[in-house]
Amino acid sequence: MSGIIAPSILSADYTNLERDVKLVEAAGAEYLHIDVMDGNFVPSISYGPNWVKQLRPETDMVLDVHLMVTNPEKIVDEFADAGADIIGVHVEATPHIHRALQMIKNKGVKAEVVINPGTPVLAIEPVLDMVDQVLVMTVNPGFGGQKFLPSTLEKIAQLRAVRDELGYDFDIQVDGGINDETVVAAYEAGANVFVAGSYVYDKVDPAAKIARLKALTK
Ligand code: DX5
Ligand code: ZN
Repeated sequence: MSGIIAPSILSADYTNLERDVKLVEAAGAEYLHIDVMDGNFVPSISYGPNWVKQLRPETDMVLDVHLMVTNPEKIVDEFADAGADIIGVHVEATPHIHRALQMIKNKGVKAEVVINPGTPVLAIEPVLDMVDQVLVMTVNPGFGGQKFLPSTLEKIAQLRAVRDELGYDFDIQVDGGINDETVVAAYEAGANVFVAGSYVYDKVDPAAKIARLKALTK
């Protein structure tokens, strides 16, 4: 199965957002990764459901919404109504992870559970049978441009083994510090969906960066 590339709009040029969205779409990115931050679960604040609603008609890419917010169950319905295709919730952000995932599924949206670098796979085992995607954070969430943490690779491999053993079919996504070197390690460990922010959008030629990530995950 070849890799799915999900550019993170967090690193785009906000004064040229439409250009930066169309550009990665034309380059063949399948997903657009949207980092929602509440200033509580993580220090930064980014955007909310109205922003996603306005973006929706502008692109055919899968809108992959990563909620870095405390008690996400309070707002998953709003993001689903705004047009999200996938909604990810952190296991660390709520005592009600099962309910949050159930709410996403009830809206007909793909449900994703997310784990931070300090959280073991064991913490999400009870919900693995209900998710469409697992996001293994490869940096501590909150900012773009951080360095990939190699200690997360073992968790990717562990998840792949559990999935294959129990016959689940969730995708394994990685997010944080992905570039043309770390993508190879994550791919070999078992990831198949690759978020990349600063690698794609910083400096020059986002389209070439996407082509390179795709070629490395064939
Ligand atoms: C980090 C976010 C990431 C971020 C990745 O909290 O979840 O999606 O945009 O940025 P890079 O690829 O620059 O590490
Ligand atoms: Zn993210």
